[in-house]
Amino acid sequence: MKLTILGGGGFRVPLVYGALLTDRAEGRVTEVVLHDLDDSRLYAVTRVLEEQASAVADAPRVTATTDLDEALRGADFVFSAIRVGGLEGRANDERVALAEGVLGQETVGAGGIAYGLRTVPVAVDIARRVARLAPDAWVINFTNPAGLVTEAMSRHLGDRVIGICDSPVGLGRRIARVLGADPNEAWIDYAGLNHLGWVRGLRIAGRDELPRLLADPGLLGSFEEGKLFGTDWLRSLGAIPNEYLHYYYFSREAVRAYQQAEQTRGAFLRDQQARFYEEARRADVSALDAWDRTRAEREATYMAEARETAGAGERDADDLSGGYEKVALALMRAIARDERTTLILNVRNQGTLSVLDPDAVIEVPCLVDANGAHPVAVDPLPGHAAGLVCAVKAVEREVLAAAESGSRATAVKAFALHPLVDSVNVARRLVEGYTQVHPGLAYLE
Ligand code: G6P
Ligand code: MN
Repeated sequence: MKLTILGGGGFRVPLVYGALLTDRAEGRVTEVVLHDLDDSRLYAVTRVLEEQASAVADAPRVTATTDLDEALRGADFVFSAIRVGGLEGRANDERVALAEGVLGQETVGAGGIAYGLRTVPVAVDIARRVARLAPDAWVINFTNPAGLVTEAMSRHLGDRVIGICDSPVGLGRRIARVLGADPNEAWIDYAGLNHLGWVRGLRIAGRDELPRLLADPGLLGSFEEGKLFGTDWLRSLGAIPNEYLHYYYFSREAVRAYQQAEQTRGAFLRDQQARFYEEARRADVSALDAWDRTRAEREATYMAEARETAGAGERDADDLSGGYEKVALALMRAIARDERTTLILNVRNQGTLSVLDPDAVIEVPCLVDANGAHPVAVDPLPGHAAGLVCAVKAVEREVLAAAESGSRATAVKAFALHPLVDSVNVARRLVEGYTQVHPGLAYLE
């Protein structure tokens, strides 16, 4: 079975390859094709993978190419994990937004819109090529902003594109753990959009145990989201929000913390990753050691400003192990071998959330089998959540429309309608600022 990874020179590729190495079963991936625009990144990552595979018999064969069509032909699965504009682009997304006093996070608010505007045209081109060159392939989209990008691709690939994120899984796992339950035995009632969802219940042996957690301030304050949002707020909500909702519920504090930070997340990662790629190419250095060190530092500093604002302290050691490669592998196995499972995924709504139309991509638990991902019925969103979800989906639709038409006015509308952008004038200046720094936005007229 052939797996093609777009963004194959990316830093997270060894996580995926490491997960593949643990899979020994019949029907596993035997061939991995890495595609990237940048040869030298491919070289560095290939060196890491070689070291990972060195002690494993029958490790999946790895090849690398800069030819997209060649990479796609014959693929059974395509992982799309690209970063249009690179980390320099991410740092610029943050800088331009912060200069206007709004959030520049890569998936939330103005930053997410800017990143979406330059990523959607590229993702659509990929989707079209997949439809033409590998019509039977399944596309698993990792590219952020994952919900929006998956929706853009679904217009060309239908339900053969599925978006993934590890944050709902991590959240469910943490809640199950504080309740003393086995995460694999819990049913997590989670719904929303990517990076904009809530756990409204967690059933163990058929009983909702979330009320027990909400009623116990000690337990509630003992894990990441309890510290990030504060126990009082979680009790008021009656739900546990995805960590990215911190940017909505504590927006001012988040903007201030980012403005005061020595470096934004994007700028930090840009410099950190540049050092890694430099090191990983050197013949006298173990590329795998360099990667491991870099990854540990990246995970330890994840959402550091948000945790600092909330006084949440260091991350729990248990939360450091990532996990999205596990979601990707479980998803691929379920489809390729009909190993039926339930995963929280980004798929078309169909009739799941009544406040959205059938084609809107949402993030909900899905049953996955050889026929793909099937969203399960969930309780309706409460009013406050439905309001945010509808507002943000409307913004995503403006981004998709702007990417399709090239209309600058539509791009302004996308920014202006976002709940975290507080003035149409700010939206106009953001479009001005972003088009100046991003060559990928030259199509907006
Ligand atoms: C979480 C999010 C991902 C994001 C990742 C890395 O897992 O769900 O969407 O890509 O964090 O964030 P970072 O700030 O390290 O790039
Ligand atoms: Mn994510």
